[in-house]
Amino acid sequence: MRSTAAAAAAAAAATALLAAAPAALADTIKITATSDLTFDPSEVTAAKGDVLEFHFEPSNHSVAMGEFGSINGPCVPANEGGFFSGYMPTSGGENEKVFQVTMNSTDPMVFYCTQSNHCAQGMIGVVNADDGQLDGYKTNASAIANAVAPKSVFGGVLTTEADASDDDDSDDGDDGGDSSDSSGDGDQDDEGAAGTVRAATGGVALAAVGAVFAMI
Ligand SMILES: *[C@@H]1O[C@H](CO)[C@@H](O)[C@H](O)[C@H]1NC(C)=O
Ligand SMILES: *[C@@H]1O[C@H](CO)[C@@H](O)[C@H](O)[C@H]1NC(C)=O
Ligand SMILES: *[C@@H]1O[C@H](CO)[C@@H](O)[C@H](O)[C@H]1NC(C)=O
Repeated sequence: MRSTAAAAAAAAAATALLAAAPAALADTIKITATSDLTFDPSEVTAAKGDVLEFHFEPSNHSVAMGEFGSINGPCVPANEGGFFSGYMPTSGGENEKVFQVTMNSTDPMVFYCTQSNHCAQGMIGVVNADDGQLDGYKTNASAIANAVAPKSVFGGVLTTEADASDDDDSDDGDDGGDSSDSSGDGDQDDEGAAGTVRAATGGVALAAVGAVFAMI
């Protein structure tokens, strides 16, 4: 009787974990500041709690949050909140560090590279933007000379522990069918987190099997 109850409890726990797992998973969205003076992908959709993970190719890029229709113009830091990675120089290959920014909301947001004229040349990206917002910002940016950079790094985490790996080739399809990776090259990666959850639920399932055996 007792082991039956234990088995039932373990099974219920396993079911609860399985049910809870998808909701608990925040996506990590990989965005690369490329040598071609672009962000790839340049248009993503993200949920609150998702992490934008910026990677930096040569030679010396950064990322800062701007503001649509700012009274200060384009390629200028947002008046409130935001983030700045600082400069991430690298002569060959990606900089060893990535910059992770957790989304506070689903409001449309724009970011740009603060390096000299990169923003004017179109090194801009958007999150949850409406149609035309990226192009509008780029058009406005093309009229300016150099971007403005915040004074210091803020609003995110610089780390060597990238969550989105470079060799991953597709997303797991658990991101609600959004079109974050508009470039189609499968930059999104959340397999690390999903693997952890799979391992955890596997442990509970084994515990449930153990309880059933104890009962026999
Ligand atoms: C990267 O760019 C920043 C801003 O222009 C500059 O201060 C810094 O010296 C550059 N770093 C390298 C290694 O070129
Ligand atoms: C572009 O500039 C115009 C004029 O200042 C402004 O009204 C508009 O909001 C800007 N567009 C974006 C996407 O920031
Ligand atoms: C999110 O909130 C934190 C803490 O208030 C703030 O530092 C950061 O700038 C915000 N991020 C954005 C994208 O506004």
